[in-house]
Formats: sequence, structure tokens, C-alpha cells
Amino acid sequence: MDDRPIGIFDSGVGGLSAVRTLLETAPNESFVYFGDTARVPYGDRTAEDIRILSRQDARFLRTKNVKALLIACNTITANALPEIQADSGSIPVIGVIDPAARAAAAATKAGRIGLIATNATVRSGVYEKAIARLLPTARVTAQGCPRLVPLIESGHTQAGDPALMEAAEEYLRPLREAAVDTVILGCTHYPLIAGAVGQIMGPDVRLIDSGGASIGTLLETLAKQDALADTTAAGRQTYYCSARQEDFVSVAEAFLSRDISAMTETVDIEKY
Ligand code: DGL
Repeated sequence: MDDRPIGIFDSGVGGLSAVRTLLETAPNESFVYFGDTARVPYGDRTAEDIRILSRQDARFLRTKNVKALLIACNTITANALPEIQADSGSIPVIGVIDPAARAAAAATKAGRIGLIATNATVRSGVYEKAIARLLPTARVTAQGCPRLVPLIESGHTQAGDPALMEAAEEYLRPLREAAVDTVILGCTHYPLIAGAVGQIMGPDVRLIDSGGASIGTLLETLAKQDALADTTAAGRQTYYCSARQEDFVSVAEAFLSRDISAMTETVDIEKY
């Protein structure tokens, strides 16, 4: 048993999609969340920049005595997972891509999988490689969606929001034309707009929440190391962001449906 917190991070509010699943499935686990809201989006940066910023994010969380790190961001997982693992020594580091690829391969019936993600994730080709290993006959239609993260970070998350619907319809058109039956929300921000995506794709298309899918892998890893938290006590939560706390809290509270303002602080991430 290990009651130390899990460190969870993302470029912004997107990793809260993983947090939501963790709160539902293992409310006894404590965690420290970091969203790099001052430097979001990462998805249009070079792989080298993504590595520099995300290694700094992980360094900050390692100062919080974490028992594991969850990279609740596809862009960082796609571009910096091995570096963060190497930096973290014996602390297990879990990414979101393999769990989401496994969930998509299991969900598709027709073998036609859509991927929406940041440009940096699409460019890396990691999802195509992971799915080819699991289901070699599958066809992946991938679409980079650079306008979605800024819209989500600024609170445009409701299905029907005109700016959101216009962008989402444009990005999802190639996936509809390819008649995909499964869509990987390959950016952890996108479960916050699952309503809009579902409305455009229709009720028969399965949406895979990449952040949520990673929680199973995280808990299995902790179980193997006998590092799950005590099940009789509630977990502690702390949230950090790098820009204005009020902006983070308003998007986070709408998504998590809970009051987190007293648990949230701003951190100067450049110091780490
Ligand atoms: N949430 C991040 C992901 O899963 C990306 C957001 C960004 O572009 O910073 O890819």
C-alpha cells in the first residue's frame, strides 16, 4: 500500500478527462494535477519544444513526492514519453496512447478508426503504429485539429456553441467521409467537447476517451507494485496551473462538476 499522490499533467485543462475517470474509479487515490495553462497549446510546437516544456512539468511534479506519473496528454506522450521515463528513474510513467489504441482496436467492428488530435500527435504517427500492431487490417483516418484546444481552454465546450461547431464540423468531415465507426479523442481536451463530437458523428460511432482509457493501465501498474492507496480513506486532491487560477478553475469546475477553487494554486513553472 502506498498513500503518496499520483502526479498527473497536461498542457492545460485536458488532463482533467483522466482525473474525472480516476475520481470515479479510485476515489481513494490522492493526486497532484498540473496544467500548463500559461504555455498551452503544446500541439503546434516542435517535438523538441514539447520535450523541453514537458520535462520541466514532470520535474515540478516529482518535487511533490509522487508514486507515479500519468502523462494525461497525447502530445507529450507522443513526443516525450521515453525522455520523461528516463528522467523519472524508478517512478513509473504512464502515457495515454497505448491504452487508447487498445480501446479503439477492441471497439471497432468495421476496422475503420478515426483519430482527431493535435498536429504534433498526428505528425508523430504513433497511433497508426500502435493500431497496426494490434489490428493490422485497420484503416486509420487522422485529422489534426489546431483550433480546438484554444476554444476549449477559453470555455467553448458546449454542443451548439457556434465557433466550436464550425471547427468541429470541418475537422470531422474526413472521418465521416471515411465512414469510421470509432473515433479516438486523441487529445485529452476533447472529452470536454464529446457532446459536440457525438452530435456530428452520430450515435452509432464509438468515442474513445484517451485520458479515461489510461486510468486502467495506471491502476494495474500500481497494483503490480503493491502501491495502490488505502481503500478505507478518501484521496487528497491538489491542482496547479501556470496561468490565472480563476480561468483554470472555471473550466475545470464545469467539467468535473465539483468545487476545486480551494485546492487550486498557480505555480511559476519556469523555476523548475
Ligand atoms: N491535451 C493535449 C493532448 O492530449 C494537447 C493540448 C495542446 O495542444 O496543448 O494532446
